[in-house]
Amino acid sequence: MRIILLGPPGAGKGTQAKKIATEFEICHVSTGEIFRKAVTEQTPLGKKASDYLDKGLLVPDEIVEEIVESRLDMSDCCKGWVLDGFPRTVNQAKSLEKYMRQKVLTLDKVVNIKVSFEYLIERFTGRRSCESCGATFHINYSPPKTSGICDKCGGKLIIRKDDEIETVKKRLEVYESSTFPLIDHYDQKHLLINVDGSKTIEEVFADIMQYLKDEDKP
Ligand code: AP5
Repeated sequence: MRIILLGPPGAGKGTQAKKIATEFEICHVSTGEIFRKAVTEQTPLGKKASDYLDKGLLVPDEIVEEIVESRLDMSDCCKGWVLDGFPRTVNQAKSLEKYMRQKVLTLDKVVNIKVSFEYLIERFTGRRSCESCGATFHINYSPPKTSGICDKCGGKLIIRKDDEIETVKKRLEVYESSTFPLIDHYDQKHLLINVDGSKTIEEVFADIMQYLKDEDKP
């Protein structure tokens, strides 16, 4: 199974991608998580990416494309993958299509998680992320068992630097101008599924599963 998740910042892509990856035993590839880890570890990639992340801008296509291709080439991705945060521009989508043609791979579905602006702001303000493993919580909708502590690894929960309101506004603008056109791109290829992301986490997951399992039937 190979799936792409689309949706504005805060729509729940990361939350659903982790659940889909567990359900189908496939690899979850989040470009945002790759960049945040690189920034924390101050690797050369992190140094290149940090300014873009802090400003809510997209990291240049050629950097992202190289990172994604080398991640998809790893052995744990051979059973399939769910992409969260990539592609984010039509150029990135075309580069992924070229990569998949070369590897003779097919894309099963593109899931577009639709959420209105009012819900998004609430999600940003309540989001807490583990600084060690990147797990995501929400103070109201998926709270950790112990406040401020990650359930999965015991790490400290923090507010992401790019969740500050001015950066969020920029990220939403960038989404509208650069990523929104991908909806049409994949609709024209008859790969697009739209789900209502304003429902609860479990309801959104059930809706996605309904589509993907129907797709999986012989
Ligand atoms: P990235 O990490 O991909 O950020 P994003 O797309 O802006 O998405 P988010 O991680 O903010 O949100 P999400 O949709 O995953 O929502 P989540 O599940 O956390 O990218 C960060 C940066 O990296 C970019 O700005 C850019 O600089 C760079 N970058 C990354 N990829 C790139 C690319 N391809 N090209 C160029 N640059 C790139 O949910 C949000 C909150 O809501 C959580 O607290 C969650 O618990 C809660 N929640 C989720 N679902 C629900 C629900 N149904 N009901 C209630 N609460 C919910």
